[in-house]
Amino acid sequence: MMQDAGVTSAHMPEGYAIAVHDLHKSFGQRHVVRGCSINVPYGNIYGFLGPNGTGKTTTIRMLCGLLTPDAGTGTCLGYNIRTQSALIKRQAGYMPQKFGLYDDLTIRENLEFVARLYEMPDAKQVATDALHRLGLHHRQNQLAGQLSGGWKQRLALAACVLHKPRLLLLDEPTAGVDPKARREFWDEIHAFAAEGITVLVSTHYMDEAERCHQIGYLLDGKLLVHGAVSDIIAQSRLSTWRITAQNTAEVMHDLQKRAGVEMATSFGTQLHIAGADAEALQRAIESMQAVFPAAQAEKITPSLEDIFIHTMAAVGDRDSQIEEKAGEDASA
Ligand SMILES: Nc1ncnc2c1ncn2[C@@H]1O[C@H](COP(=O)(O)OP(=O)(O)OP(=O)(O)O)[C@@H](O)[C@H]1O
Ligand SMILES: [Mg+2]
Repeated sequence: MMQDAGVTSAHMPEGYAIAVHDLHKSFGQRHVVRGCSINVPYGNIYGFLGPNGTGKTTTIRMLCGLLTPDAGTGTCLGYNIRTQSALIKRQAGYMPQKFGLYDDLTIRENLEFVARLYEMPDAKQVATDALHRLGLHHRQNQLAGQLSGGWKQRLALAACVLHKPRLLLLDEPTAGVDPKARREFWDEIHAFAAEGITVLVSTHYMDEAERCHQIGYLLDGKLLVHGAVSDIIAQSRLSTWRITAQNTAEVMHDLQKRAGVEMATSFGTQLHIAGADAEALQRAIESMQAVFPAAQAEKITPSLEDIFIHTMAAVGDRDSQIEEKAGEDASA
């Protein structure tokens, strides 16, 4: 749908660090990934978004060779994800969604352990370098299990970059981490990208999506929207207004009954309302203002969150209509 917002750099290889096509994966009867295609140019930071249970982790695990797709194929770092997963694993760093290190080892011990797993020649020095790079040096003797969420994630990042991967696959690395620590974590992600490392990172945070070169939004195992955030917002046909009023609850109640209002969300003394039919939405607002003359309305640019929630609702409505129709056809 969108153009790739490629990052140009003299030392960056041409083409895509990730190029996978029409991936499918089922667990028993559950068809979880249903035709997912992703292209990520070398050196890009690609944000992977989508609701819980939509197949992000499953897709990431197929990219790094931990799961084999039922159908579909493609490459990571030029290696075939079906037949060359050992080569991919050697050059990719995977940070799983759940903390996978040892709680009863210190930060340093964890890093040295991982360095030995990778058979790196000087595990002590490798760990020391990583401790300095990620600001963990002063905590090196602390047990991993005693770290706060933010520091645990930093340790996990340090562990997955020890072997100097060219591709990072980070699965919700900042879930539950405070805003300052998230920002610092993202500064690190950008620092890695500046060195030419390609990063695919899943997240539920919209501010993080805005720090990516490109994002993809996965819904029910299919990539629904992808591209640069600014392009996605510019190409969205969602009309959005901000309503400022004292009695927001009553105004909200009024608006929700009117045709054209597909989404209404309150933010203190303000409401954001949105709909795909701009004219119907404007009529709804004018009719509301006839009842509440003090309410002020201002057209605004939709946020990424507005667009995704609207898209999810629209797809949900479409799917339930298809199911109803199938039910009617079956009983006819
Ligand atoms: N090994 C497995 N066996 C059976 N079902 C699985 C397995 N792994 C994942 N699933 C199911 O597949 C679906 C997709 O899971 P996945 O973890 O890929 O979603 P996700 O998008 O990463 O969600 P979240 O945002 O919550 O992390 C879920 O319904 C999950 O229960
Ligand atoms: Mg997940």
